[in-house]
Amino acid sequence: MPALDRTPETGAPETWRRIAAHTARLGFDMPSEPRTGAFLKMLAASKPGGRMLELGTGTGLATAWLLAGMDAGARLTSVDVAPELQAVARAELGDDPRVSFVIEDGLAFLRRQAPAGYDLIFADAMPGKYEGLEEALALVKPGGLWIGDDMLPQPNWPEGHAARVAGLLDTLQSREGWAVVEMAWASGLVVAVRG
Ligand SMILES: C[S@@+](CC[C@H](N)C(=O)[O-])C[C@H]1O[C@@H](n2cnc3c(N)ncnc32)[C@H](O)[C@@H]1O
Repeated sequence: MPALDRTPETGAPETWRRIAAHTARLGFDMPSEPRTGAFLKMLAASKPGGRMLELGTGTGLATAWLLAGMDAGARLTSVDVAPELQAVARAELGDDPRVSFVIEDGLAFLRRQAPAGYDLIFADAMPGKYEGLEEALALVKPGGLWIGDDMLPQPNWPEGHAARVAGLLDTLQSREGWAVVEMAWASGLVVAVRG
């Protein structure tokens, strides 16, 4: 039986390796996992010319993976409130014309977007996931994807967070017109596709 665990390292972009090294030096303690990145790369590749949104750039780990999956016509906007973190992403990825970086509260950003404008949303901050979920889902095009991570228990979860996760999953699973899968992959993913 061949090992089924080769995906992340095999497909990792060079930019991700450099950002990962920088992230470790910074001691940033909320990085997206490589398996999440590999999964996002695969999903981004399924949306040629797609419009992508990342809520929570951090240092740009997942951003690098998304860009690695996107074709030349696709575009990605990545939003964070922390300029010092996003500066790492800007330094490594800012020359790529397909990506735009925004410093803004994620909820405020969501509220000024036109509906159904995105093919893929990676919700990796509280906005778009635990606040402003409705606003985020409204931005997904038919056939588009909303992806949330950190659905499996994490050591840094504050008190009461497990109940919020369960509530989020219930909300998504009970939504009419969406196909939803919970995955025990990396930190725990939930993928919702608008039908
Ligand atoms: C889990 S980390 C993101 C990790 C990143 N996606 C990666 O690939 O490593 C969450 C990020 O959300 C950002 N954040 C926190 N509050 C926010 C808000 N209100 N709006 C936008 N981003 C926020 C934090 O600064 C942090 O960088």
